[in-house]
Amino acid sequence: MTDLTLRGDYFLGQFHSTHNKNDEYINKICPADTSLKLWETGIDYSHCDRVIDSALEGYKTWRKLSLDERANYFERFKSLVDSKIEHIAMAIALETGKPLWEAMTEASAVSAKVGVTLKDSRERISPKFIKEVLPNIDGHIIYKPIGPSLVIGPFNFPCHLANGQILSALLSGNTIIFKPSEKTIVSSQILIECFHDAGFPPGVVNFINGTAHTTQAILKHSAIKGIFFTGSLAVGKKILEAVGTDVTKLVALELGGKNTTIVHKDANLDHAMVELLRSCYLTSGQRCTSTSMITVHEDIAQEFMEKFKAATERIIVDHPTKAKSDPFMGPVIDEMAKQKYLDSLELGKKHGAQAIIENKELELEFEGYYVNPTIYFMDEVKKSNPYTQEEIFAPHVTVSHFKNIEQAIDIANITEYGLAAAIFTNDKNIYQKALNEIDAGIINLNRSTVGASSRLPFGGVKNSGNYHPAAVSMIDHTVSAAASLETLDLSSKIEDVKGLRS
Ligand code: SIN
Repeated sequence: MTDLTLRGDYFLGQFHSTHNKNDEYINKICPADTSLKLWETGIDYSHCDRVIDSALEGYKTWRKLSLDERANYFERFKSLVDSKIEHIAMAIALETGKPLWEAMTEASAVSAKVGVTLKDSRERISPKFIKEVLPNIDGHIIYKPIGPSLVIGPFNFPCHLANGQILSALLSGNTIIFKPSEKTIVSSQILIECFHDAGFPPGVVNFINGTAHTTQAILKHSAIKGIFFTGSLAVGKKILEAVGTDVTKLVALELGGKNTTIVHKDANLDHAMVELLRSCYLTSGQRCTSTSMITVHEDIAQEFMEKFKAATERIIVDHPTKAKSDPFMGPVIDEMAKQKYLDSLELGKKHGAQAIIENKELELEFEGYYVNPTIYFMDEVKKSNPYTQEEIFAPHVTVSHFKNIEQAIDIANITEYGLAAAIFTNDKNIYQKALNEIDAGIINLNRSTVGASSRLPFGGVKNSGNYHPAAVSMIDHTVSAAASLETLDLSSKIEDVKGLRS
Protein backbone atom coordinates (compact mmCIF):
# COMPACT_ATOMS: atom_id res chain seq x y z
CA MET A 1 0.00 0.00 0.00
CA THR A 2 1.34 3.43 -0.95
CA ASP A 3 2.33 5.55 2.01
CA LEU A 4 -0.05 8.51 2.08
CA THR A 5 1.05 9.94 5.43
CA LEU A 6 0.86 13.70 5.64
CA ARG A 7 3.82 15.32 7.34
CA GLY A 8 2.52 18.85 7.85
CA ASP A 9 3.84 22.16 6.54
CA TYR A 10 7.46 22.53 5.46
CA PHE A 11 9.63 25.52 6.33
CA LEU A 12 13.21 26.21 7.48
CA GLY A 13 14.12 22.84 5.98
CA GLN A 14 11.77 20.73 8.15
CA PHE A 15 8.23 19.44 8.23
CA HIS A 16 6.13 20.93 11.04
CA SER A 17 3.06 19.10 12.25
CA THR A 18 -0.31 20.80 11.92
CA HIS A 19 -1.95 18.44 14.38
CA ASN A 20 -1.42 20.36 17.60
CA LYS A 21 -3.21 23.54 16.91
CA ASN A 22 -6.00 22.91 14.48
CA ASP A 23 -7.99 25.85 13.25
CA GLU A 24 -9.75 23.58 10.76
CA TYR A 25 -9.59 20.08 9.30
CA ILE A 26 -9.45 18.79 5.73
CA ASN A 27 -10.55 15.20 4.92
CA LYS A 28 -9.71 13.45 1.70
CA ILE A 29 -11.97 10.77 0.32
CA CYS A 30 -10.69 8.74 -2.62
CA PRO A 31 -12.76 9.87 -5.64
CA ALA A 32 -12.55 6.35 -7.08
CA ASP A 33 -13.79 4.62 -3.92
CA THR A 34 -15.71 6.80 -1.50
CA SER A 35 -15.50 4.17 1.25
CA LEU A 36 -11.76 4.93 1.44
CA LYS A 37 -10.53 7.90 3.46
CA LEU A 38 -7.05 8.69 2.12
CA TRP A 39 -5.99 11.14 4.83
CA GLU A 40 -7.02 14.00 7.05
CA THR A 41 -5.03 17.01 8.16
CA GLY A 42 -5.31 19.98 10.39
CA ILE A 43 -4.64 23.47 9.13
CA ASP A 44 -2.46 25.74 11.19
CA TYR A 45 -2.98 29.35 10.14
CA SER A 46 -0.12 30.48 12.35
CA HIS A 47 2.19 28.79 9.85
CA CYS A 48 1.38 31.47 7.24
CA ASP A 49 3.82 33.91 8.84
CA ARG A 50 6.37 31.19 9.49
CA VAL A 51 6.57 30.06 5.85
CA ILE A 52 6.98 33.69 4.78
CA ASP A 53 9.80 34.24 7.32
CA SER A 54 11.42 31.06 6.11
CA ALA A 55 11.18 32.10 2.43
CA LEU A 56 12.74 35.47 3.33
CA GLU A 57 15.55 33.78 5.22
CA GLY A 58 16.30 31.39 2.36
CA TYR A 59 16.24 34.25 -0.14
CA LYS A 60 19.17 36.01 1.54
CA THR A 61 21.64 33.39 0.26
CA TRP A 62 19.83 31.59 -2.58
CA ARG A 63 19.60 34.76 -4.68
CA LYS A 64 23.37 35.16 -4.46
CA LEU A 65 24.25 31.75 -5.94
CA SER A 66 25.20 31.58 -9.59
CA LEU A 67 22.91 29.92 -12.13
CA ASP A 68 25.34 26.99 -12.27
CA GLU A 69 25.32 26.57 -8.50
CA ARG A 70 21.54 26.55 -8.41
CA ALA A 71 21.37 24.15 -11.38
CA ASN A 72 23.40 21.55 -9.44
CA TYR A 73 20.54 21.09 -6.97
CA PHE A 74 18.16 20.45 -9.87
CA GLU A 75 20.04 17.38 -11.09
CA ARG A 76 19.79 15.84 -7.61
CA PHE A 77 16.08 16.66 -7.48
CA LYS A 78 15.55 14.95 -10.85
CA SER A 79 17.23 11.72 -9.80
CA LEU A 80 15.11 11.61 -6.62
CA VAL A 81 11.93 12.13 -8.65
CA ASP A 82 13.05 9.35 -11.01
CA SER A 83 13.57 7.00 -8.07
CA LYS A 84 10.07 7.71 -6.72
CA ILE A 85 8.17 7.83 -9.99
CA GLU A 86 5.84 4.93 -9.19
CA HIS A 87 5.08 6.28 -5.73
CA ILE A 88 4.29 9.71 -7.18
CA ALA A 89 2.04 8.18 -9.84
CA MET A 90 0.16 6.05 -7.31
CA ALA A 91 -0.49 9.06 -5.06
CA ILE A 92 -1.71 11.12 -8.03
CA ALA A 93 -3.98 8.29 -9.21
CA LEU A 94 -5.55 7.80 -5.77
CA GLU A 95 -6.00 11.49 -5.03
CA THR A 96 -7.19 12.68 -8.44
CA GLY A 97 -8.80 9.51 -9.80
CA LYS A 98 -6.82 9.63 -13.05
CA PRO A 99 -5.78 6.17 -14.31
CA LEU A 100 -2.39 4.96 -13.14
CA TRP A 101 -0.95 4.95 -16.68
CA GLU A 102 -1.94 8.61 -17.04
CA ALA A 103 -0.59 9.45 -13.58
CA MET A 104 2.71 7.88 -14.70
CA THR A 105 2.87 10.33 -17.59
CA GLU A 106 2.40 13.19 -15.14
CA ALA A 107 5.14 11.86 -12.85
CA SER A 108 7.49 11.47 -15.84
CA ALA A 109 6.72 15.04 -16.91
CA VAL A 110 7.94 16.25 -13.50
CA SER A 111 11.32 14.67 -14.18
CA ALA A 112 11.47 15.83 -17.82
CA LYS A 113 10.70 19.39 -16.76
CA VAL A 114 14.08 19.65 -15.07
CA GLY A 115 15.88 19.32 -18.42
CA VAL A 116 13.53 21.78 -20.12
CA THR A 117 14.06 24.34 -17.35
CA LEU A 118 17.83 23.96 -17.35
CA LYS A 119 18.06 24.27 -21.12
CA ASP A 120 15.16 26.07 -22.82
CA SER A 121 14.10 28.28 -19.91
CA ARG A 122 17.57 29.03 -18.62
CA GLU A 123 18.59 30.56 -21.95
CA ARG A 124 15.88 33.17 -21.49
CA ILE A 125 17.42 34.49 -18.27
CA SER A 126 21.08 34.15 -19.16
CA PRO A 127 22.83 37.54 -19.23
CA LYS A 128 22.75 39.26 -22.64
CA PHE A 129 25.41 41.47 -24.16
CA ILE A 130 24.58 43.91 -26.96
CA LYS A 131 27.50 45.57 -28.72
CA GLU A 132 27.23 49.36 -29.24
CA VAL A 133 23.66 49.95 -28.13
CA LEU A 134 24.75 53.60 -28.27
CA PRO A 135 27.85 55.00 -30.02
CA ASN A 136 30.93 53.53 -28.21
CA ILE A 137 28.72 52.12 -25.49
CA ASP A 138 27.86 48.47 -24.98
CA GLY A 139 24.74 47.18 -23.26
CA HIS A 140 24.10 44.36 -20.86
CA ILE A 141 20.90 42.83 -19.59
CA ILE A 142 20.97 40.78 -16.43
CA TYR A 143 18.00 39.04 -14.85
CA LYS A 144 17.42 39.28 -11.13
CA PRO A 145 14.99 37.27 -9.00
CA ILE A 146 11.85 39.14 -7.99
CA GLY A 147 11.68 37.71 -4.46
CA PRO A 148 9.83 35.10 -2.40
CA SER A 149 6.96 33.77 -4.48
CA LEU A 150 3.73 31.89 -3.83
CA VAL A 151 2.82 28.99 -6.14
CA ILE A 152 -0.84 27.99 -5.90
CA GLY A 153 -1.34 24.58 -7.50
CA PRO A 154 -4.40 22.93 -9.10
CA PHE A 155 -5.83 19.47 -8.35
CA ASN A 156 -5.83 18.15 -11.92
CA PHE A 157 -2.02 18.12 -12.22
CA PRO A 158 -0.95 18.27 -8.57
CA CYS A 159 2.72 17.78 -9.43
CA HIS A 160 3.42 18.72 -13.04
CA LEU A 161 1.89 22.20 -13.30
CA ALA A 162 3.16 23.56 -9.99
CA ASN A 163 6.53 21.91 -10.58
CA GLY A 164 7.02 23.93 -13.78
CA GLN A 165 6.41 27.18 -11.91
CA ILE A 166 8.52 26.14 -8.92
CA LEU A 167 11.55 25.10 -10.98
CA SER A 168 11.51 28.33 -13.00
CA ALA A 169 11.21 30.47 -9.87
CA LEU A 170 14.02 28.59 -8.11
CA LEU A 171 16.43 28.64 -11.04
CA SER A 172 16.06 32.43 -11.23
CA GLY A 173 17.04 32.76 -7.55
CA ASN A 174 13.64 33.17 -5.94
CA THR A 175 12.47 31.17 -2.96
CA ILE A 176 9.00 29.67 -3.09
CA ILE A 177 6.04 28.79 -0.92
CA PHE A 178 3.94 26.05 -2.50
CA LYS A 179 0.27 25.92 -1.52
CA PRO A 180 -1.18 22.81 -3.21
CA SER A 181 -4.85 22.18 -3.87
CA GLU A 182 -6.44 20.91 -0.65
CA LYS A 183 -7.66 17.94 -2.76
CA THR A 184 -4.20 16.62 -3.62
CA ILE A 185 -1.84 17.33 -0.72
CA VAL A 186 0.01 14.00 -0.63
CA SER A 187 1.01 14.06 -4.30
CA SER A 188 2.35 17.58 -3.88
CA GLN A 189 4.10 16.71 -0.61
CA ILE A 190 6.19 14.06 -2.41
CA LEU A 191 7.69 16.83 -4.56
CA ILE A 192 8.66 18.68 -1.40
CA GLU A 193 10.28 15.53 0.00
CA CYS A 194 12.35 15.31 -3.20
CA PHE A 195 13.46 18.96 -2.83
CA HIS A 196 14.36 18.26 0.80
CA ASP A 197 16.34 15.09 0.01
CA ALA A 198 18.09 16.91 -2.85
CA GLY A 199 19.57 19.21 -0.22
CA PHE A 200 17.98 22.54 -1.22
CA PRO A 201 19.06 24.92 1.57
CA PRO A 202 16.53 25.66 4.35
CA GLY A 203 13.99 28.31 3.40
CA VAL A 204 14.41 27.94 -0.37
CA VAL A 205 11.42 25.62 -0.77
CA ASN A 206 8.44 25.92 1.57
CA PHE A 207 5.07 24.19 1.66
CA ILE A 208 1.80 25.01 3.35
CA ASN A 209 -1.56 23.30 3.40
CA GLY A 210 -4.77 25.13 3.94
CA THR A 211 -7.72 26.87 2.45
CA ALA A 212 -8.44 30.08 0.54
CA HIS A 213 -7.82 31.86 3.85
CA THR A 214 -4.21 30.54 3.82
CA THR A 215 -3.65 31.70 0.25
CA GLN A 216 -5.07 35.16 0.93
CA ALA A 217 -3.03 35.64 4.10
CA ILE A 218 0.21 34.81 2.30
CA LEU A 219 -0.33 36.60 -0.99
CA LYS A 220 -1.25 39.90 0.68
CA HIS A 221 2.01 39.97 2.68
CA SER A 222 4.42 42.66 1.48
CA ALA A 223 7.32 40.15 1.31
CA ILE A 224 5.62 38.09 -1.40
CA LYS A 225 6.58 39.38 -4.84
CA GLY A 226 5.45 36.64 -7.23
CA ILE A 227 2.04 34.95 -7.23
CA PHE A 228 1.72 32.07 -9.70
CA PHE A 229 -1.72 30.55 -9.90
CA THR A 230 -3.28 27.78 -11.99
CA GLY A 231 -7.01 27.29 -11.54
CA SER A 232 -10.41 28.81 -12.14
CA LEU A 233 -11.32 32.26 -13.41
CA ALA A 234 -13.32 32.94 -10.22
CA VAL A 235 -10.31 32.30 -7.96
CA GLY A 236 -7.99 34.18 -10.33
CA LYS A 237 -10.19 37.24 -9.98
CA LYS A 238 -10.13 36.96 -6.18
CA ILE A 239 -6.33 36.93 -6.30
CA LEU A 240 -6.27 40.08 -8.42
CA GLU A 241 -8.75 41.76 -6.07
CA ALA A 242 -6.58 40.87 -3.07
CA VAL A 243 -3.44 42.23 -4.70
CA GLY A 244 -5.34 45.37 -5.73
CA THR A 245 -3.07 48.35 -6.30
CA ASP A 246 0.11 46.76 -4.95
CA VAL A 247 2.34 47.26 -8.00
CA THR A 248 5.27 45.47 -6.36
CA LYS A 249 3.66 42.07 -6.95
CA LEU A 250 3.70 40.10 -10.19
CA VAL A 251 0.63 37.91 -10.66
CA ALA A 252 0.71 35.21 -13.35
CA LEU A 253 -2.64 33.51 -13.90
CA GLU A 254 -3.38 30.32 -15.84
CA LEU A 255 -7.15 30.11 -15.88
CA GLY A 256 -9.86 28.09 -17.54
CA GLY A 257 -10.93 27.34 -21.08
CA LYS A 258 -13.94 26.62 -23.25
CA ASN A 259 -11.98 25.13 -26.09
CA THR A 260 -13.20 24.47 -29.63
CA THR A 261 -11.94 21.98 -32.17
CA ILE A 262 -12.80 22.54 -35.84
CA VAL A 263 -13.14 19.46 -38.06
CA HIS A 264 -12.94 20.54 -41.69
CA LYS A 265 -14.42 18.55 -44.58
CA ASP A 266 -10.98 17.28 -45.72
CA ALA A 267 -9.98 16.03 -42.24
CA ASN A 268 -8.66 12.51 -41.75
CA LEU A 269 -11.49 11.35 -39.51
CA ASP A 270 -9.83 8.20 -38.17
CA HIS A 271 -6.91 10.26 -36.94
CA ALA A 272 -9.22 12.96 -35.63
CA MET A 273 -11.19 10.41 -33.57
CA VAL A 274 -8.12 9.40 -31.57
CA GLU A 275 -7.08 12.98 -30.92
CA LEU A 276 -10.62 14.03 -30.03
CA LEU A 277 -11.11 11.24 -27.51
CA ARG A 278 -7.99 12.57 -25.79
CA SER A 279 -9.07 16.19 -26.12
CA CYS A 280 -12.54 15.72 -24.71
CA TYR A 281 -12.21 12.96 -22.16
CA LEU A 282 -8.67 12.50 -20.84
CA THR A 283 -8.52 13.25 -17.11
CA SER A 284 -12.34 12.99 -17.25
CA GLY A 285 -12.41 16.32 -19.09
CA GLN A 286 -10.76 18.05 -16.15
CA ARG A 287 -8.03 19.84 -18.07
CA CYS A 288 -8.19 23.52 -18.75
CA THR A 289 -7.23 22.63 -22.34
CA SER A 290 -10.00 20.01 -22.76
CA THR A 291 -12.11 20.40 -25.89
CA SER A 292 -15.72 21.09 -24.92
CA MET A 293 -16.98 22.32 -28.31
CA ILE A 294 -16.46 20.58 -31.66
CA THR A 295 -17.67 22.19 -34.85
CA VAL A 296 -17.79 19.98 -37.94
CA HIS A 297 -18.16 20.90 -41.61
CA GLU A 298 -21.74 20.13 -42.63
CA ASP A 299 -20.64 17.92 -45.58
CA ILE A 300 -19.15 15.33 -43.21
CA ALA A 301 -21.49 15.90 -40.26
CA GLN A 302 -23.25 12.55 -40.32
CA GLU A 303 -20.15 10.44 -40.87
CA PHE A 304 -18.35 12.37 -38.14
CA MET A 305 -21.09 11.88 -35.58
CA GLU A 306 -21.45 8.16 -36.28
CA LYS A 307 -17.73 7.62 -35.84
CA PHE A 308 -17.37 9.90 -32.83
CA LYS A 309 -20.32 8.40 -30.99
CA ALA A 310 -19.03 4.87 -31.65
CA ALA A 311 -15.53 5.82 -30.45
CA THR A 312 -16.85 7.55 -27.32
CA GLU A 313 -19.01 4.54 -26.45
CA ARG A 314 -15.85 2.41 -26.35
CA ILE A 315 -14.37 4.44 -23.47
CA ILE A 316 -13.79 2.40 -20.32
CA VAL A 317 -14.51 4.34 -17.13
CA ASP A 318 -13.21 2.57 -14.06
CA HIS A 319 -11.08 2.56 -10.94
CA PRO A 320 -7.66 4.16 -11.65
CA THR A 321 -5.55 1.45 -10.01
CA LYS A 322 -7.77 -1.60 -9.43
CA ALA A 323 -9.66 -2.04 -12.69
CA LYS A 324 -9.24 -5.39 -14.51
CA SER A 325 -8.03 -3.63 -17.66
CA ASP A 326 -6.69 -0.09 -18.06
CA PRO A 327 -9.52 2.42 -18.06
CA PHE A 328 -9.43 5.45 -20.36
CA MET A 329 -10.69 7.63 -17.54
CA GLY A 330 -11.54 7.48 -13.86
CA PRO A 331 -14.01 9.48 -11.77
CA VAL A 332 -14.24 13.26 -11.47
CA ILE A 333 -12.54 14.74 -8.44
CA ASP A 334 -15.38 15.04 -5.93
CA GLU A 335 -19.09 15.24 -5.26
CA MET A 336 -19.20 18.94 -6.13
CA ALA A 337 -17.59 18.30 -9.54
CA LYS A 338 -20.04 15.48 -10.22
CA GLN A 339 -22.97 17.68 -9.28
CA LYS A 340 -21.69 20.50 -11.47
CA TYR A 341 -21.44 18.10 -14.43
CA LEU A 342 -25.02 16.94 -13.89
CA ASP A 343 -26.45 20.44 -13.34
CA SER A 344 -24.54 22.09 -16.18
CA LEU A 345 -25.54 19.47 -18.70
CA GLU A 346 -29.18 19.78 -17.63
CA LEU A 347 -28.77 23.53 -18.15
CA GLY A 348 -27.38 22.75 -21.61
CA LYS A 349 -30.55 20.87 -22.52
CA LYS A 350 -32.67 23.82 -21.38
CA HIS A 351 -30.61 25.99 -23.73
CA GLY A 352 -31.05 23.94 -26.88
CA ALA A 353 -28.52 21.10 -26.57
CA GLN A 354 -29.72 17.60 -27.53
CA ALA A 355 -28.14 14.56 -25.95
CA ILE A 356 -26.42 12.19 -28.38
CA ILE A 357 -24.90 10.34 -25.43
CA GLU A 358 -26.81 11.30 -22.30
CA ASN A 359 -25.08 12.54 -19.14
CA LYS A 360 -25.36 10.08 -16.29
CA GLU A 361 -23.76 8.87 -13.08
CA LEU A 362 -22.22 5.42 -13.32
CA GLU A 363 -22.58 2.61 -10.81
CA LEU A 364 -19.43 0.50 -10.89
CA GLU A 365 -17.85 -2.11 -8.65
CA PHE A 366 -16.34 0.65 -6.51
CA GLU A 367 -18.61 3.49 -5.49
CA GLY A 368 -17.06 6.76 -6.60
CA TYR A 369 -17.68 9.96 -8.54
CA TYR A 370 -17.98 8.18 -11.88
CA VAL A 371 -19.84 9.78 -14.76
CA ASN A 372 -19.98 8.88 -18.41
CA PRO A 373 -18.39 10.68 -21.36
CA THR A 374 -21.21 12.72 -22.85
CA ILE A 375 -21.91 14.11 -26.33
CA TYR A 376 -24.44 16.83 -27.04
CA PHE A 377 -25.47 18.42 -30.31
CA MET A 378 -26.43 22.07 -30.79
CA ASP A 379 -28.03 23.53 -33.92
CA GLU A 380 -26.89 27.03 -33.26
CA VAL A 381 -24.00 28.17 -31.07
CA LYS A 382 -24.82 31.62 -29.69
CA LYS A 383 -22.72 33.92 -27.55
CA SER A 384 -25.74 34.80 -25.43
CA ASN A 385 -26.28 31.16 -24.46
CA PRO A 386 -24.83 30.66 -20.93
CA TYR A 387 -24.13 27.02 -21.73
CA THR A 388 -21.67 27.97 -24.50
CA GLN A 389 -19.75 30.20 -22.08
CA GLU A 390 -19.43 28.00 -19.02
CA GLU A 391 -16.37 25.86 -18.30
CA ILE A 392 -17.87 22.62 -16.96
CA PHE A 393 -14.60 20.72 -16.28
CA ALA A 394 -16.06 17.27 -16.84
CA PRO A 395 -16.18 14.66 -19.63
CA HIS A 396 -18.53 16.24 -22.13
CA VAL A 397 -18.51 17.92 -25.51
CA THR A 398 -21.04 19.73 -27.66
CA VAL A 399 -20.95 19.28 -31.43
CA SER A 400 -22.25 21.82 -33.95
CA HIS A 401 -22.00 22.26 -37.74
CA PHE A 402 -20.49 24.95 -39.93
CA LYS A 403 -20.79 25.87 -43.59
CA ASN A 404 -17.50 27.70 -44.15
CA ILE A 405 -14.27 28.34 -42.27
CA GLU A 406 -15.28 31.91 -41.35
CA GLN A 407 -18.29 30.56 -39.50
CA ALA A 408 -16.16 27.90 -37.77
CA ILE A 409 -13.71 30.55 -36.55
CA ASP A 410 -16.62 32.68 -35.29
CA ILE A 411 -17.84 29.68 -33.29
CA ALA A 412 -14.36 29.16 -31.82
CA ASN A 413 -14.27 32.83 -30.82
CA ILE A 414 -17.76 32.93 -29.27
CA THR A 415 -16.49 32.07 -25.82
CA GLU A 416 -15.09 34.59 -23.34
CA TYR A 417 -12.19 32.18 -22.74
CA GLY A 418 -9.20 31.92 -25.06
CA LEU A 419 -6.95 29.08 -24.04
CA ALA A 420 -6.82 26.33 -26.67
CA ALA A 421 -8.24 25.38 -30.05
CA ALA A 422 -7.46 22.83 -32.75
CA ILE A 423 -8.24 22.33 -36.41
CA PHE A 424 -8.26 19.09 -38.37
CA THR A 425 -7.57 19.72 -42.04
CA ASN A 426 -5.03 18.96 -44.75
CA ASP A 427 -5.21 22.51 -46.05
CA LYS A 428 -2.29 24.60 -44.78
CA ASN A 429 -4.02 27.86 -45.80
CA ILE A 430 -7.10 27.03 -43.76
CA TYR A 431 -4.86 26.17 -40.81
CA GLN A 432 -2.95 29.44 -41.22
CA LYS A 433 -6.24 31.38 -41.21
CA ALA A 434 -7.36 29.58 -38.03
CA LEU A 435 -3.97 30.23 -36.43
CA ASN A 436 -4.22 33.94 -37.19
CA GLU A 437 -7.87 34.48 -36.40
CA ILE A 438 -8.77 32.28 -33.43
CA ASP A 439 -8.29 34.21 -30.20
CA ALA A 440 -6.46 31.59 -28.17
CA GLY A 441 -2.99 30.96 -26.78
CA ILE A 442 -2.74 27.44 -28.26
CA ILE A 443 -4.02 26.56 -31.76
CA ASN A 444 -3.05 23.07 -32.94
CA LEU A 445 -3.17 21.40 -36.34
CA ASN A 446 -4.40 17.78 -36.52
CA ARG A 447 -3.57 17.39 -32.87
CA SER A 448 -5.63 17.40 -29.68
CA THR A 449 -6.04 20.54 -27.59
CA VAL A 450 -4.57 18.78 -24.53
CA GLY A 451 -0.99 17.69 -23.92
CA ALA A 452 0.80 20.99 -24.31
CA SER A 453 4.57 21.03 -24.77
CA SER A 454 6.73 22.34 -21.90
CA ARG A 455 9.07 23.77 -24.54
CA LEU A 456 6.50 26.25 -25.84
CA PRO A 457 4.58 29.03 -24.07
CA PHE A 458 1.43 27.81 -22.33
CA GLY A 459 -1.24 30.40 -21.66
CA GLY A 460 -4.36 31.99 -22.96
CA VAL A 461 -6.02 35.27 -23.81
CA LYS A 462 -9.37 36.79 -22.78
CA ASN A 463 -10.55 35.13 -19.55
CA SER A 464 -7.94 32.36 -19.75
CA GLY A 465 -5.04 34.29 -18.29
CA ASN A 466 -3.33 37.63 -17.86
CA TYR A 467 -0.66 37.38 -20.56
CA HIS A 468 1.94 35.63 -18.44
CA PRO A 469 2.16 32.21 -20.09
CA ALA A 470 3.65 29.26 -18.26
CA ALA A 471 5.77 26.33 -19.55
CA VAL A 472 8.93 27.60 -21.25
CA SER A 473 7.90 31.27 -20.76
CA MET A 474 7.22 30.88 -17.05
CA ILE A 475 10.75 31.89 -16.19
CA ASP A 476 10.20 35.34 -17.77
CA HIS A 477 7.79 36.20 -14.93
CA THR A 478 10.19 35.18 -12.19
CA VAL A 479 12.80 37.83 -12.94
CA SER A 480 13.19 41.53 -13.39
CA ALA A 481 15.49 42.64 -16.19
CA ALA A 482 18.19 45.15 -15.23
CA ALA A 483 19.83 47.16 -18.01
CA SER A 484 23.39 48.43 -17.85
CA LEU A 485 25.32 50.74 -20.19
CA GLU A 486 29.06 50.23 -20.19
CA THR A 487 31.89 52.22 -21.73
CA LEU A 488 35.65 52.09 -21.49
CA ASP A 489 35.95 55.41 -23.29
CA LEU A 490 36.82 57.85 -20.48
CA SER A 491 37.46 60.84 -22.75
CA SER A 492 34.51 63.10 -21.74
CA LYS A 493 35.57 66.79 -21.49
CA ILE A 494 33.72 69.56 -19.70
CA GLU A 495 34.27 71.88 -22.68
CA ASP A 496 32.08 69.60 -24.80
CA VAL A 497 29.00 70.06 -22.52
CA LYS A 498 26.50 72.51 -24.01
CA GLY A 499 24.76 75.10 -21.81
CA LEU A 500 27.51 75.57 -19.21
CA ARG A 501 28.85 79.04 -18.19
CA SER A 502 32.42 79.47 -19.34
C1 SIN B 1 -4.09 21.72 -18.01
O1 SIN B 1 -3.31 22.63 -17.73
O2 SIN B 1 -5.14 21.55 -17.39
C2 SIN B 1 -3.80 20.82 -19.18
C3 SIN B 1 -2.43 20.75 -19.64
C4 SIN B 1 -2.41 20.03 -20.95
O3 SIN B 1 -2.97 18.96 -21.09
O4 SIN B 1 -1.88 20.60 -21.90
